[in-house]
Amino acid sequence: MRKKSLLIIKPDAIERDLIGRIISRLESARFKILAMKMVRLTYDEARKFYAVHEGRPFLEELCQFMSSGPIVAMVLESDGDTVSKIRSLIGSTDPAKAAPGTIRHDFALSLTKNSVHASDGEESAKTEIAFFFS
Ligand code: CMP
Repeated sequence: MRKKSLLIIKPDAIERDLIGRIISRLESARFKILAMKMVRLTYDEARKFYAVHEGRPFLEELCQFMSSGPIVAMVLESDGDTVSKIRSLIGSTDPAKAAPGTIRHDFALSLTKNSVHASDGEESAKTEIAFFFS
């Protein structure tokens, strides 16, 4: 069964002209892009998107960063467990811990500027897709 997830290319990757290279990796791994758009979030919109992290010490810096420039949000689909497959391809949240060959290992700058975000479960995928593609 084909399932969907949300992936965001973050401002640090956009600033370094990495959109094409990241999309190429996703397509090479046989993810289908069903929808995509470039947007700039306000700080408040970023807080809403990351509401699950309310109270965490990194939230303020994360939302400042996510509203500091454009992002590209996209809906990806594949056979099987799309959420897990994307998370394997992008690697650990902290690029210092991400495996060689993963997107974050190869492109990310820091824990906050980690180049991409992907949904962490099927429920969050539904909520996050609805946030950008109503
Ligand atoms: P992302 O997948 O977008 O989900 C939440 C983000 O918070 C995460 O990637 C990181 O960019 C950021 N972040 C910053 N510090 C931390 C931390 N200590 N633990 C988890 N996420 C963090």
